[in-house]
Amino acid sequence: MTGEPILHVEGVTKTFGMRRTLRERVGRAEAAEHRAVDDVSFTVGRGEILGLAGGSGSGKTTLARCLIRLVEPDSGAVRLGDDDVLAAKGADLRELRRRMQMVFQDPYASLNPRMTVGTALHEAGRVHRRPGSEDADRFVTELLARVHLSPTIAARRPRELSGGQRQRVAVARALAVGPEVLIADEAVSALDVSVQAQLLNLFLDLRDELGVAIVFVAHQLAVIAEVADRVAIMHQGRMVEIGDAGVVLRDPQHEYTRALLAAHPHPDPRGRAGVA
Ligand SMILES: Nc1ncnc2c1ncn2[C@@H]1O[C@H](COP(=O)(O)OP(=O)(O)OP(=O)(O)O)[C@@H](O)[C@H]1O
Ligand SMILES: [Mg+2]
Repeated sequence: MTGEPILHVEGVTKTFGMRRTLRERVGRAEAAEHRAVDDVSFTVGRGEILGLAGGSGSGKTTLARCLIRLVEPDSGAVRLGDDDVLAAKGADLRELRRRMQMVFQDPYASLNPRMTVGTALHEAGRVHRRPGSEDADRFVTELLARVHLSPTIAARRPRELSGGQRQRVAVARALAVGPEVLIADEAVSALDVSVQAQLLNLFLDLRDELGVAIVFVAHQLAVIAEVADRVAIMHQGRMVEIGDAGVVLRDPQHEYTRALLAAHPHPDPRGRAGVA
């Protein structure tokens, strides 16, 4: 069941400049800019997973990063609840970034290799004064349980974990600060299929149990089909199609979506009824 919209995105555009030498060589004004994200609008509801698919270079990562201003959009609007993300500064921006957490393909991007898992999770909660973080052991054990890991993992460092465990810890690290939105950019793309399936189940649990909204970026449609309530398709910076996952994957309206489905022939839009 999905709730009211929590994340509102309107007309977000991001253009990257080309290096001057290259621009001179190409010699055309229109070649000087590259629109990585072009006038993209959508919303995500509480307890909803929006799957974002599209070919390599279609702008998925740039769009995901614009949402929390790891990349500054040129124009458009991003709101979290009633709060204007693009206008926020200082403490307000930090608070908005707490409420929207990112999970990357490479878990080392958010994990300090020298810190034990327990210390890292507790630190994240303590810095943001999360309820329950006064009791470190309990706080860490509960977070690990949330991502289906044993409390013994707390004593390990990131390199002492399997790839799947490490990605679960990265998710726990994001959850430690109490986010309302998770943005997962290719978070399962590097994992084996069986480990991938476990992680996908974890994202479904987080949606259902915590009611977080999830923007789930993946280039594999089969992965998107497993988790997404709605699917959005990116092509050359534009969102060319967005709709109910079952509908988009079974009856795509846009030519590019059909091409993408043809290139990935078996994205089984699951026994969705049981999960959604
Ligand atoms: N920092 C940057 N500077 C210049 N161009 C960039 C930058 N980041 C991304 N781009 C360009 O923007 C376009 C979109 O890239 P992006 O990484 O968002 O695509 P993607 O859909 O995530 O691709 P992939 O599936 O390979 O991860 C590409 O043409 C890319 O080269
Ligand atoms: Mg990407």
